[in-house]
Amino acid sequence: MDKLVIEGGRRLSGTVTISGAKNACLPILAATLLSDDRSVIRNIPALRDMSTMLKILKNFGVRAQQEGSAVTVEPHGYKKYIAPYEQVSTMRASVCVLGPLLAKQRRAEVSFPGGCVIGPRPIDLHIKGLKALGAKIRVERGYILADGRNLKGGNVYLGGHFGSSVLATANVMMAATLAKGETVIENAACEPEVVDLTHFLIKMGARIKGVATHRLVIEGVKKLHGAEHSVIPDRIEAGTYILAAAATKGDITLKDVIPDHMVALIDKLTEAGLEMKKIPGGIRVRYVRKLRPMDITTLPYPGFPTDMQAQFMSLMAVTDGISVITEKIYPERFIHISELNRMGADILLEGASAIVKGVKNLSGAPVMASDLRASAALVLAGLVAKGRTDVQRIYHLDRGYEKIEEKLLKLGAKVWREKDK
Ligand code: EPU
Repeated sequence: MDKLVIEGGRRLSGTVTISGAKNACLPILAATLLSDDRSVIRNIPALRDMSTMLKILKNFGVRAQQEGSAVTVEPHGYKKYIAPYEQVSTMRASVCVLGPLLAKQRRAEVSFPGGCVIGPRPIDLHIKGLKALGAKIRVERGYILADGRNLKGGNVYLGGHFGSSVLATANVMMAATLAKGETVIENAACEPEVVDLTHFLIKMGARIKGVATHRLVIEGVKKLHGAEHSVIPDRIEAGTYILAAAATKGDITLKDVIPDHMVALIDKLTEAGLEMKKIPGGIRVRYVRKLRPMDITTLPYPGFPTDMQAQFMSLMAVTDGISVITEKIYPERFIHISELNRMGADILLEGASAIVKGVKNLSGAPVMASDLRASAALVLAGLVAKGRTDVQRIYHLDRGYEKIEEKLLKLGAKVWREKDK
């Protein structure tokens, strides 16, 4: 198992290019299953989750090939419809093949994804939505068994206890593209990744109105064709580098970003005192004054993203004053607190809120990554800390951050990968 070693205390400066968005690529690759034709998806990052998704596609009998950052998918009459436990358990997002399989093959067997360290990951909204489209669904042997022989348009409200759901919206929208008649999804998620998927589906011939709103209207068509698409930049990767610049009192320019996808983060950091300037195709981030502590609450888009919560906490851990971070999407997504405290942070968990008392310095330590974003938070803490930090189990990080040590090295960090004994 690899670990990432960081000698902290260096100010980051320079330019970093942001990769394609992992959470847009996954449903878009799944959407290629809706057609028999060849699709080409560009700007796909080299990440472990992408290899997992390609394996899943190949398992259905689809040809999928990656050349650089382009993936060509050739479904050509594939017949299989089972996504096994061994694959789904390594990546919960694989549940997004459910909608396309149901629409195209009129049946699907997808392993039930279950929970994970960031908390329970229910799929009741996915099931509710697909049932509203006439699918018969039961859970047996740990699998979601779906029969779509009577698939037709329907109306569904996709709001849950924690607001809208990204992948439930993706699944229901994908199923609706080939379901006869009109489907209306109320309280649809409008994260940029959902919008990017919608654009791809429209390129495939889907008829969708209300793009980027909470009300999607889909008119089913008989057939979709292949399409070419370039995936949007990863707003969470971009946000992570912005926070790294802020935490190390740096000055970095991010290329290939869409600042409009990061309004909540930009707003909060500007309020905290970070200088952020939009430039063509990018954004420049400069630490020019002492930052103020902040209160944030994670919410569905365009609210503050839960996928930035852990990294934001690392910055607040070294920002003088008291910050409060409330998690409204995954109330248990706080495993990083104990590891940050091992590095000298002063963070107390009170229900679904973390009370962060800024400290002067963090000190390097061996720490354990528990999930993707928590790992990124530990890397940020390691960049600021005095001395050496060993972030163990970085396979989590490799799921979502392309060439992270290469990018950090280029920005002046002292970081390398080692085999863990
Ligand atoms: N929820 C339900 N029922 C459902 C589905 C979700 O109650 O049927 C709840 C969840 O438990 C959560 C909230 O609704 O409280 C939102 O979950 P959502 O369904 O939107 O999450 P997701 O689609 O499974 C995607 C991202 C996550 C990101 C969330 C929230 C992908 C592949 N994953 O997951 O990304 O945290 O949206 O924005 O798109 C990550 O990249 O590290 C990551 C975990």
